[in-house]
Amino acid sequence: MQDVAALGQALGGFHARRVLVRSDLNVPLDSSGDTPVITDDGRVRASVPTIRELAEAGAVVVVCAHLGRPKGTPEQRYSLAPVADRLAELLERPVRFVPETVGPVAEEAVAAAQPGDVLLLENLRFNAGETSKDDGERGAFADELARLADAFVSDGFGVVHRKQASVYDVARRLPHAVGGLVLTEVEVLRRLTEDVERPYAVVLGGAKVSDKLKVIDELLGKADRILVGGGMVFTFLKAQGHEVGKSLLEEDQVETVRGYLRQAEERGVTVVLPSDVVAATAFAADAEHDVYPVDAIPADRLGLDIGPDSAATFSAALADCRTVFWNGPMGVFEMEPYAAGTKAIATALAALDGLGALGVVGGGDTAAAVRALGFSDDDFGHVSTGGGASLEYLEGKALPGLQVLED
Ligand code: 3PG
Repeated sequence: MQDVAALGQALGGFHARRVLVRSDLNVPLDSSGDTPVITDDGRVRASVPTIRELAEAGAVVVVCAHLGRPKGTPEQRYSLAPVADRLAELLERPVRFVPETVGPVAEEAVAAAQPGDVLLLENLRFNAGETSKDDGERGAFADELARLADAFVSDGFGVVHRKQASVYDVARRLPHAVGGLVLTEVEVLRRLTEDVERPYAVVLGGAKVSDKLKVIDELLGKADRILVGGGMVFTFLKAQGHEVGKSLLEEDQVETVRGYLRQAEERGVTVVLPSDVVAATAFAADAEHDVYPVDAIPADRLGLDIGPDSAATFSAALADCRTVFWNGPMGVFEMEPYAAGTKAIATALAALDGLGALGVVGGGDTAAAVRALGFSDDDFGHVSTGGGASLEYLEGKALPGLQVLED
């Protein structure tokens, strides 16, 4: 895999070269007001260094990215226009927003650009070719993207697990390099899979256990401790024989989870589950809520956070760890009464940093959660920009967006 500096050498310098940069600018937007507001700009910030490096080297930087999951046609609510404004502020240089992904408007904008200019193309997923499963359709879109540039830099770590035109196919059409963000992310993930410093704990949360089956499978052979919270924990509690009231439950996964618990025991992996939960009468911040032991969750309540005893147990299980990976909030952190569990895990991970141990916050949602709770990226060993991508890496899967850069 060649890095940006090596690509620059191969091109005889970046001055006046058109460089297509795939970034992950998929940020949460609050569109309830007149103008959409970015509620967490972590991914935009993380994208700045590579774009700046190229612009300062005199390249014409053509940034491309997606936002949300539009289905191949333009939808105003998924426009990247607000992101272009934020990117310009962070870069402290103008960013020309191009209201099309490819075609004459984009081609003219690129042709008119001067060395050092930065352009941001409209949402790639407004074009069906971006995510198509058909190689020909994806390839045709990649051809159009490739026409806009002399070289390609892959810097969107959050999408390297996607075999999509701007991630995979375009790299096969242009001289390419891996961006600094992707390099850093991969370097940290390597520390979670090779020569791991032990004890190694993984904290899993979020809504659905079905999204995490493969990673749990893989981790049963790697981690020393697996801590489970969030909505998915109720399927674990059910598998242990507890009633979970109206809590989120994936009935069809109970047997699988039982199998995991058995396997963990056989392999000497400690699975830490909550002993208490905060359960409410409704999914609302102002609903009546109390703390219940997990063997006494009332039939008419739903669990929305791990309880205080569990938070203390989880924190203690992380305190002596040398390596921790965390993906998924412990509760509905967006609502104050159910944020304490997630806050406790963030605090425990931040404490590891001071001890020289590695605490990794994995994923867009989890990263946004810790920032919303007042933590900064500097509090942790590493805050990954990629949720799905980092999980797939840990699953041991080959990621197409990384594989293609090896060629
Ligand atoms: C993410 O949010 O994890 C990345 O931006 C990838 O988005 P996707 O899951 O819609 O492909």
